[in-house]
Amino acid sequence: MAVIAFVNQKGGVAKSTSAVHFAYWLSQKRQKHVVVVDGDAQRSSSQWLAGMEMEETEIPCQVLSGPDALLEELPNLAEQYEYAIVDAPAGLAEETRAILFRCDLAVIPVQPSGVDLRSASDAMRLVKQAQSVRGGLPKAAAFLSRAVKGTRLKDEALSLLGKIERATLLQSVVHQRQVVADTSGQSATVWEMSGQPARDAAKEFETLFTEILSLL
Ligand SMILES: Nc1ncnc2c1ncn2[C@@H]1O[C@H](COP(=O)(O)OP(=O)(O)OP(=O)(O)O)[C@@H](O)[C@H]1O
Ligand SMILES: [Mg+2]
Repeated sequence: MAVIAFVNQKGGVAKSTSAVHFAYWLSQKRQKHVVVVDGDAQRSSSQWLAGMEMEETEIPCQVLSGPDALLEELPNLAEQYEYAIVDAPAGLAEETRAILFRCDLAVIPVQPSGVDLRSASDAMRLVKQAQSVRGGLPKAAAFLSRAVKGTRLKDEALSLLGKIERATLLQSVVHQRQVVADTSGQSATVWEMSGQPARDAAKEFETLFTEILSLL
């Protein structure tokens, strides 16, 4: 079992989108035994999954609200699956801290803007606190999320993120695409959407998820 969490106290960086797509890819494309842990009281990922039609087996989803539930129940839950994918909430440091105490790998999606880069260092601060208590765990990685093609900001963000200590900067970048924004409203993932942008987005997610798995 491996617990992989998408964390960032900054809102709207694609934690839920990444968690749902990752769980779908592992379960439906790689035939892994997966559970999604929705750590957000807004329940975006559990509602998204509840409306989804699966090619293969259903993906179970457990809502764990609050730091106590996350700390106490995450290990037992994770034991029953090959992968537990955790969708962390925005804004709530205590919940994020609890998740960081229980995950093997923390993945931080970061949008390429000044504000978001600062928030990545806030997230890394919590990661480092957990690492100092847990003898180096969790492993941490950051990737550029919702990046707009061809902008200078993206290159600047990549070079800044590359300087974050004790976290791997993933080479994979997920670009901003309308088709990705449309997936949650349709209770779908990019693999079920048609057209070239959907295929391009699927390719980016596959590259990202393969890179994430290589870190475990
Ligand atoms: N690659 C993308 N291209 C376009 N839109 C995207 C992309 N990824 C996410 N979005 C959109 O950005 C918004 C925020 O995404 P999401 O809800 O996954 O972020 P979050 O970090 O979970 O937010 P919160 O902190 O509020 O839980 C959503 O409307 C989503 O559809
Ligand atoms: Mg979310």
